[in-house]
Amino acid sequence: MKDFIAISDFSSEEIRDLLDLAAKLKQEYFEKGNQPIFAGKVLGMIFQKPSLRTRVSFDMAMRHCGGDALYLSPNEIGLGKRESIADVARVLSGYVQALMARTFDHAHVVELAKWADIPVINGLSDYNHPCQGLADALTIVEKFGAKSKGLNVSYVGDANNVTVSLMHVSALLGWNMTVGSPEGYDMNPKAVEIAREIAKKTGSKLTFVRDPHEAVKGAHVVYTDTWTSMGQEEETAIREKIFPPYQVNAKLMSEADRDAIVMHCLPAHRNHELTDDVADGPQSVIFPQAHNRLHAQKAILARLFGVA
Ligand code: CP
Ligand code: NVA
Repeated sequence: MKDFIAISDFSSEEIRDLLDLAAKLKQEYFEKGNQPIFAGKVLGMIFQKPSLRTRVSFDMAMRHCGGDALYLSPNEIGLGKRESIADVARVLSGYVQALMARTFDHAHVVELAKWADIPVINGLSDYNHPCQGLADALTIVEKFGAKSKGLNVSYVGDANNVTVSLMHVSALLGWNMTVGSPEGYDMNPKAVEIAREIAKKTGSKLTFVRDPHEAVKGAHVVYTDTWTSMGQEEETAIREKIFPPYQVNAKLMSEADRDAIVMHCLPAHRNHELTDDVADGPQSVIFPQAHNRLHAQKAILARLFGVA
């Protein structure tokens, strides 16, 4: 594996293998502490947008394993502005052993991977969020274990970058996915086409509805995300008018499976897409989910460095 740009670049077996490795590294970390498997390696982290989880979990993943990470802010790099993406990729390839990039335009992280001689990891683009998708799957597998095949995953709200990776990982693992989103805020059609191709092989069922109540019926996982993603701030006022019926609250949760879990990639806009009582209630796994970013990313890095 050269890069980690999209969940859909991998087979079901490869994703299961990454999940098994993440679970193993997580267990080892809690049982034996830090293992220096990334000794001598530095991860360059290019951020065009803000981040808490992605930045800190990648940095800590490298440090726990004896490596290091270098944060490069939007102003320092000026990706594609101060210098071409191809030149940035080729220069950094001589300094660090892998790159993680959070870009606005998905084409920019693809371009970085094209020119870099070192592995490139997509830390979120306007199209997808594969590291989040892997950590989400790890969280779901931990919760539902061997029974996870045929699970119903429902996403309610803005069908965005996080939804794309959740849909692709669900399809690859044979989970059914239902997306409930308002008109005009649908899934990227290309991503749906890719998911349908995967689902043909795995038997996963994909459903797209407008009604949030219909979306959560029979759901084992209810997932939501912000109504306004980074880069869409000018649309905030209009989105705040459209999305309230899609709020994940106690009433909506009462319509899902009795044992359903609630997920959110965070940052959450509390009492907008997710109410406080649900976010902090017994069905919520939002913090273990955030913590799993660390373990899932260790697995990605280990495979890219070829050390596990
Ligand atoms: N979920 C996630 O990617 O969070 P950050 O934007 O804080 O990295
Ligand atoms: N959809 C959100 C996810 C943040 C982690 C965004 O792109 O801003």
